[in-house]
Formats: sequence, C-alpha cells, structure tokens
Amino acid sequence: MNRTDQCTAVIGLQWGDEGKGKLVDLLAAEHDLVVRYNGGANAGHSVVVGGERFALHLVPSGILSPATRTVIGNGVVVDPARLLDEIEKLEARGVKTEGRIAISDRAHVVLDYHKSEDGLREELLKAGQAGKRVGAGTSQEIGTTRRGIGPCYADKVTRATGVRMGDLLRPDALRRKVELACRMKHALFEGLASSAHVEWEPFEPDAIIETALGHGDKLRHRITDTTYLLHDELNAGRRLLFEGANATLLDVDHGTYPYVTSSNSSVLGAGPGSGVPGHRLDRVIGVMKAYSTRVGGGPMPTELHDETGNQIRERGHEYGTTTGRPRRVGWLDLVALRYACMVNGVSEVAIMLLDVLAGFDDLKVCTAYIVDGRETDRFPPDAADLEHARPVYETLSGFGEEITGVTSMGELPAGAAAYVDRIERHLGVPVRVVSVGPDRAQTIRLSETGCAS
Ligand code: IMP
Repeated sequence: MNRTDQCTAVIGLQWGDEGKGKLVDLLAAEHDLVVRYNGGANAGHSVVVGGERFALHLVPSGILSPATRTVIGNGVVVDPARLLDEIEKLEARGVKTEGRIAISDRAHVVLDYHKSEDGLREELLKAGQAGKRVGAGTSQEIGTTRRGIGPCYADKVTRATGVRMGDLLRPDALRRKVELACRMKHALFEGLASSAHVEWEPFEPDAIIETALGHGDKLRHRITDTTYLLHDELNAGRRLLFEGANATLLDVDHGTYPYVTSSNSSVLGAGPGSGVPGHRLDRVIGVMKAYSTRVGGGPMPTELHDETGNQIRERGHEYGTTTGRPRRVGWLDLVALRYACMVNGVSEVAIMLLDVLAGFDDLKVCTAYIVDGRETDRFPPDAADLEHARPVYETLSGFGEEITGVTSMGELPAGAAAYVDRIERHLGVPVRVVSVGPDRAQTIRLSETGCAS
C-alpha cells in the first residue's frame, strides 16, 4: 500500500453481499478508524476470523481489529435496539467495544413505526400491482428488508418528524417529534392498511419515547459530533477507511431505480454521510463477487433460473445475512461492473468468492446487452430500461480443481487465472485481491495492497 494514502473507501460494485466485510476486516488493522456512512440494519457484513463467523449489521466491520476505532456516521440510519444487541453480542464473544464505537449525533433513528411503514408499503405494492412482472417477482414490491430504512430516510428529508441520535438525549425535542410523527403516521397507516387489506396497530407515543430515551441512555457515551471527530483525526494524520454498506447498483441515484435502497450506497455517499469531503479520498477499492447475486425485486439481466444457478447458490451459501432469503444468482455482468467502476472512480478491484466457481465446465461473462434490437456496452440503470436488456455472453473455460487452499496467483488453475485476467481487461482497473474462501488467510494478493493475508 502507498503509505501516503490517508483515506480509502471499500465499495460493493454489484447488488450487495460482495464480501466487503472480509476486505474491510483485512484492511482495518492498517487504519485508525473505520467509518460507516450510509444504510442501516439492512446491511449484513459477514466476517470470519479464526474460524469464527461474525454477522455485523450496524457496527462497522473494523470492530474486529482490536486497535481500530469505528464511527457510525451521520448518513447511517440507526436502529438503537439492534445496535445495542449487536454490541452486547460482540462483548459476549470477547470483542471490546468501549471507546471504539462513536455514533454521530446527526444520524437518524429508525423507530418501530418506520418498520411498520416499510411493511405496509410493501404489502400495498404486492396487493396493488399483482400480475405485473418486474424482475424476480410478480409484483412491484421492492423486496425491502423491512428494517424501516426507506421510511426513516423519508422522515429525514421531510424534516419535522426526523429523529436524530442527539434527540435521544433531548427528551423535549424527542417528544415533540414523536408525537407529531405518530399523528401523521396514523392517518397514513390507516390508508395504506385499508388499501392493502391488512391489519395494523396504532402506536402509543409514550411507549416509543420511553423506549427511545432508554436506548439513548445506554448509548449516551458513544453519541458525539463525529464530523469534528473525523476532521480532528485527519488533522492528526490518522488513516480512515470508509466502509460502504449495500452497494453501487442499489444506490438511490445511480442504481437500478426504483429497485434500490434509500441512500447513496456508492462512494458518492461518503462525503455527505460522514462530513469528510469526497476529494479527501485517495483510494477506492471496488469489491465484486466472481458472479452476480441480488436479493429482492428488480431487473438482473444475467439471472440464472436453472441448475447452474442452484449450484452456485449452494456452493456460495447465497442466503441473506440479514433476512435469510435465498439470493438470486447469475453469471458475471461486466457491463454493470464497468459502469460501477466508472461511477465510483475505482482505483483497484478485489474479486471475492472465486472458489465458488470451481467445478463448472464453462464460465460465462456478459460483455454487452441487446436493448431494443441494438447491442450496447452501456448500463441503463433505470429498471424499466434494464428490464429489456438481454445479455451477450462470452464463454470461458472453467476450472475443475478446488482452489480454497491456493495462496498465490501462480498456483491458480489456468481457467481461474484466465477468468481473473478477462475481468481485469474488461474493467480496465487492476485486480489487487482474489479471495478463495471466507477466512482471512484465504486471500491472494496480486501486488502491494496493504491486505494482511
Ligand atoms: P431496503 O434497503 O431494506 O429498503 O431494501 C431495498 C432493496 O435493497 C431490497 O432489494 C434489498 O434486498 C436490497 N438491499 C438492501 N441492503 C442490502 C444489502 O446489504 N445486501 C443486499 N441487498 C440489500
């Protein structure tokens, strides 16, 4: 690694679950702080350390590196009950968290009514749009994680009802906002529930306030102005690692809208979500799987509905860390990946889960789409356009051997090495890491990356 790099970002280039957690964990030891800047408990980062698996949703993956501190930035939406639960579980497994998790006082709070609203909206989309085929489903349901992410971000932008972490320490402000929110939400929920033909339970503001103040009390010592904290650390020469949650193709502006999450989950969200301007970033590491997966609705041009898809799903354990849903699986989409590299200004790529592709005779990669009868190498991020895109495939030879024990590029079977080379040539960005298994040790470094394999 170039030791002058002060700020690095790790970003998912596809639809999430690329293995960012493992990469952040590898890099964390070389950084003083790991910063989350977007998303909430919808994200699931799975990290294996010494054979032990940790599933993190809100706490940045850097927590598993003992000398590194972590920051939950202002752009994150925090479900305090889940965060406290995660901290408790980490402590119970011997991970020290005191003094190592700072939470922005500006980060918004996910409350129970946000989760209900998320569910009610999804039910309405499911009921109201039945019969219309979009992506994997038969409805226009987004397939959210129902963790309240969208409604919480919506309240943030609506303003009067947005509750921030700092409000958990200000009982009067909290009461004013929650009472107003409950009045507004009750009217909304009645309409949503009756249109979707589902039941709903009115909320008791006092109970919400009491619970939220209790959470605030437990988190009080961790809630702070992280914008100043980060700038003070930068001025002191410390090194920051920005951990993107969700992924580029789920970015609310640059992803497959409307089948996206509600934040800027590409690197473009790092500035607004942390208070550190984007131009401070020296290095952007794009993380990709060796194939494609997606959870929830929306178009996915290379999706496989056959036995090959099932085999990849089983070999890759492609079931959601957050919801347990089976992930949709497909061949590698180089059109989407090249777009994602462009949007993020990716300086290097990490290919994860290459070991999953062992045993297939042929491997296909999508190098272009046919849209309305014309071939294009451009990614149309709008879901309605992408829905019509048909993949143009190039077929490469597969590799029969298992590669989970391989530690250098020279040991990779020819088919695996050619696959990596094809990706690098198409993306025009150097591949620096190839991961062949979940453990820290199962990592091939192609040149200086700073990753301690
Ligand atoms: P939401 O973020 O819960 O609103 O979900 C919106 C869409 O993003 C759904 O299709 C989710 O399955 C997807 N999604 C959100 N976070 C992740 C993630 O971390 N990995 C994969 N998919 C995600």
